[in-house]
Amino acid sequence: MIRAVRGTRDLYPPDTALWNFVEAAVRDVFRAYNFHEIRTPIFEETSLFARGVGEETDIVSKEMYTWFDGDQPKEQLLRAWWVRNRALRKQGQGCDPNQVEFGRQLGTDSADIYIEGATPNIIVFAMQDDASARAVLRSLESGWKSMPAARAAPNVEPKLTLLIPDRQRSKTGDPRISTLPDGIELIEIPIAGDLRPLTLRPENTAGVVRAYIEHKLGDRGLQKLYYIGPQFRRERPQKGRYRQFYQIGAEVIGPPATGSESPARDAEVLEMLATLLDRLGIEGWTLELNSVGCAKDRPVFNEALRQALAGQVDKMCADCQRRAFTNPLRVFDCKVPEDQPIIEKLPRMSQFLDEDCRRHFTAVQEILTATGVPFVLNDRLVRGLDYYTKTAFEFTHGSLGAQNAILGGGRYDGLSEALGGPPAPGIGFAIGEDRVVLSLKESAESLVRKPDVYVAPLGAGMNREAAKLARELRRHDLVVELGEEGFRLKKSFEAADRVGARYILIVGENEVKADGFALKNLTSGEQVSVPRAELAQKIQTH
Ligand code: HAM
Repeated sequence: MIRAVRGTRDLYPPDTALWNFVEAAVRDVFRAYNFHEIRTPIFEETSLFARGVGEETDIVSKEMYTWFDGDQPKEQLLRAWWVRNRALRKQGQGCDPNQVEFGRQLGTDSADIYIEGATPNIIVFAMQDDASARAVLRSLESGWKSMPAARAAPNVEPKLTLLIPDRQRSKTGDPRISTLPDGIELIEIPIAGDLRPLTLRPENTAGVVRAYIEHKLGDRGLQKLYYIGPQFRRERPQKGRYRQFYQIGAEVIGPPATGSESPARDAEVLEMLATLLDRLGIEGWTLELNSVGCAKDRPVFNEALRQALAGQVDKMCADCQRRAFTNPLRVFDCKVPEDQPIIEKLPRMSQFLDEDCRRHFTAVQEILTATGVPFVLNDRLVRGLDYYTKTAFEFTHGSLGAQNAILGGGRYDGLSEALGGPPAPGIGFAIGEDRVVLSLKESAESLVRKPDVYVAPLGAGMNREAAKLARELRRHDLVVELGEEGFRLKKSFEAADRVGARYILIVGENEVKADGFALKNLTSGEQVSVPRAELAQKIQTH
């Protein structure tokens, strides 16, 4: 049996009623704040996320689903290059029949064996130099060593080569040849073709800002955009954490002259979220708020973090050791328990905010307080994405366990410029829809609208009559389930019961002739004969 891939899941009735309930409330609330829907593609160029979300984030460095697109498998392109160019490599010789046999056994376009003098050269064509490409190479090496030819000459070590495309130079130039620490020869070749990698979106803000720039949406004034859709991250699945998950997000973005920088926008977004959660009946949420400063404060803060980490970073996990140099702010994302005492003592952004950021943050808090939205300050909150500036926030909920962030967001005043666009300050959030659904009090059953009536055709030729009648009733906004003329009456009753219909309506030859139909209330057991013209009203009012 083929099952859904780990970390993905099927949503089906009655649970989908919960999702529809959430999405209907979302559309309703967002409308009142004048937000409009945007739909961006589910995959984008990888560089959008690398530049937008940040190379050093967990999302970009570990969790993205990325592949190389193109008209033909790229291994074939690499092999074609190799076949064309291997004559250039020293003196190629004829092959030993055993070795040819081994080459044939490879049975793949992604590897080759080639005899260079007396030395066999095993070549793997791969898209990148990674663990799986090296594993293929090593397994071919041990395959080779079990061949009779290799056993006869035990002192001849095969040469191992990894041939990969040169991402920096996809069209022209000489191959770059180097030796990896484990002795593998790495050849990076510039091959023609579009080698730009694509990625399933791990989040939607970068896509929205790309669309904002591409379509010059800023020319139309302040944009208030929302989206609902799947996102993809290769995380370890657990309750509330999936590899395909759903976000409901919104972004307010526009040229500075539209007021997009104003703390009023931050407060409006946060107040809208509080209203939405209340509307969904989700109680006991906490709004955690911080300011992560702006482009001017960041280098000062990063330097302070580097200094604070200098003496102790070698006691921390490998990720932290790297981040301490590349992007010290990301040290705050660390979940390793042993590192927490060190992180606890690090300087906080709040000590480094410049005057403008400080004033902005105070104003956000003042408006929130005026509108009656409760919040707590959390100066460890840095969020796992690099684009944030100034306000950063999360709403958490106790019932969710370890994955307690129901939503997160913040301001990203420099993101548009980082993606090559005009200045366009913005603020937004994304709600984890899977997690919202987990925190609802409603049961899916209670939200499903059951059929008002089950129309039961009885006897040959009655499917036609029943279909006509069902059509009339559905025009009156009734939910109608339609049976089958071959069912005996008992079976129709059972079917009506199973779908939870309130009424059953019998459509037999006599009823059609008389133009009056037996209508039975399945709860009270009351049965009446009702003229066709009065049926809809009778079902609606009872
Ligand atoms: P994020 O914090 O990465 O922010 O994700 C937002 C929310 O998506 C999380 O709070 C969580 O509820 C949900 N979420 C994230 N990963 C998973 C997962 N693997 N399974 C289930 N739910 C998950 C962003 O994505 C930003 N784009 C938010 C934003 C919009 N900032 C500004 N504008």
